[in-house]
Amino acid sequence: MCGIIGVVGSSDTLATLLEGLTRLEYRGYDSAGIALVRPGQTWRARTAEGTESVAALRRVCEDAPSGFSSGIGHTRWATHGAPEAVNAHPHLDCSGNIAIIHNGIIENHRELHEALVARGHLFTSVTDSEVLAHLIEEARARGLELMEAMRQSLLTVRGAFAVAVMDATEPDVIVAARRISPLVVGTAPGVTYLASDVPAILDRATAFYAVNDDEIVRLGPEGFRAIDLEGGPVRLHQLSIDWDLETAEKGGHDDFMSKEISEQPHAIRATLLDRRRRDGTITFDEMRIDDEELREVKRVVLVAAGTSHHAALVAKYAIERWARISVEVDISSEYRYRDPIVEIGTLVIGVSQSGETIDTIQATREAQRRGARVVAVSNIVDSSLAREADAVIYTRAGIEVSVASTKAFVAQVAALELLALRLAQLRGTMSPTDVDALFLGLNAVSAQVATTLERRASIELIAKELMGSHDFFFLGRHVGFPTALEGALKLKELTYMHAEGYPGGELKHGPLALIEPGVVVVAVATHQLMHEKILSNLAEVKARGASVVVVATDDDETIDAVADFVMRVPATEPLFTPMVDIVPLQLFAYAMARQLGRNVDRPRNLAKTVTVE
Ligand code: F6R
Repeated sequence: MCGIIGVVGSSDTLATLLEGLTRLEYRGYDSAGIALVRPGQTWRARTAEGTESVAALRRVCEDAPSGFSSGIGHTRWATHGAPEAVNAHPHLDCSGNIAIIHNGIIENHRELHEALVARGHLFTSVTDSEVLAHLIEEARARGLELMEAMRQSLLTVRGAFAVAVMDATEPDVIVAARRISPLVVGTAPGVTYLASDVPAILDRATAFYAVNDDEIVRLGPEGFRAIDLEGGPVRLHQLSIDWDLETAEKGGHDDFMSKEISEQPHAIRATLLDRRRRDGTITFDEMRIDDEELREVKRVVLVAAGTSHHAALVAKYAIERWARISVEVDISSEYRYRDPIVEIGTLVIGVSQSGETIDTIQATREAQRRGARVVAVSNIVDSSLAREADAVIYTRAGIEVSVASTKAFVAQVAALELLALRLAQLRGTMSPTDVDALFLGLNAVSAQVATTLERRASIELIAKELMGSHDFFFLGRHVGFPTALEGALKLKELTYMHAEGYPGGELKHGPLALIEPGVVVVAVATHQLMHEKILSNLAEVKARGASVVVVATDDDETIDAVADFVMRVPATEPLFTPMVDIVPLQLFAYAMARQLGRNVDRPRNLAKTVTVE
């Protein structure tokens, strides 16, 4: 999730780029760079100073030569390659004339890189993105115009991209393209803009156009034209944008939470990109544990806090089922102080969106001190947790601004299930065909989440009907239990109302005493095997006067008889259900909180990252 900006035909190119990058900076990038391009000259500057990168770039650019009417800029949120200046964009080709910026992941970058190196190209970074500069360089050497060079290069690329290229031998032209990662074009008299997000160009452009997947656009001072990957002309859809800067930063949503909930299909898709080699092997971002050692793992311990703990609970079911290893899940603040047993073959997995939660870092440190190998699942590249771990899987959910975690959760579940599949591969507990089928199924979850998001209005209606209720019990069984815990956490932190998550089977062992008219029971009933059991739980609470809300699959015809309200979701593989089923529960908590006038992005008493004990 990097930020992109470009401009052609401007009288204040440098200011436009730097201002655009500043506006994209709220997402907390780790490095920044620009390239100014004119006939025969490409001038580049890059900095990697964390959230100070754009400020540092501004200082470096005080020495920039003047007289450039076109350029591109980029703020990076590292995925491949550490957040260092050499990996910051723009990347140049071997001649130094061609500059590219890229947001996304080139899945087949390793093969492309190898082939390009064999043909004599010199790489200066360890990013996946740099292959694009060299591919376009080769296409230009075949005599192709920049737009055609981009088109032909993209035919060889798999993955996600919003990419923009400039070439000092074809100046005053930016060619850009998109697949999955967002891209907009803006126009004003005599100037044309490009951006990953509207805020970057909000008060400079007067008209905005969306670039769709697999479309290529050529920008010149006079305007733009677009083609598809086959080379046929396409018309870009004009966006009606009457946003102020604050609304624009939220992508047109009222708040970051709504934006982040809507980004979940992308978060899952991005987390799964580039994870399977051609031979089917599932790969991580960093791996300093050899296969033999992983194969011999005897016990897995997951440590995490809050929402990340709920994702870890889902992982227990997946690792035990697929890899047949016994799994323990611990709240990180508990693990650390309970004199944990670490035997040979103990693998500890620290799960943390921020990678900076003190309890989780201290728990993994304690485990390492006792001899465990540690895997980090983190959303922030080079976070403390990631730096200290022996292996890392990054969730690529993009920066999460809202205090209540949403898209990080679904991305964590996706990443942890990938890890479970890798362990199954190594241990031979599943056939390659079954692993492949699950990997494909995991990739389909993103679309199921998107379908669920389209049902937002029906959830808002349920929230309206239940206004005035104060007690909520969330029930689930199997992986529906962590989903119930997470649904309850969202409701309590956003609305400040009493909400508890329980495994359905525990109901009779105490909580049933609290059920009376006015209490709302929200049940997750999408797991086929557990369906009947949940139905009998619901009969018990209904008989005691509770209002019943059920998350049920589209094809469930039995549920209307017991439920007062039904939240419908598409059916998916049982172990994938938490990623889909949590969506209506997030939307429900959000709608309740909005009706109550709560600040959904900043709930009272809470901090996004808890760095003190
Ligand atoms: C809840 C929430 C928190 C975090 C917890 C752990 O919505 O956001 O419960 O999940 O503070 O944070 P990370 O994942 O950064 O370790």
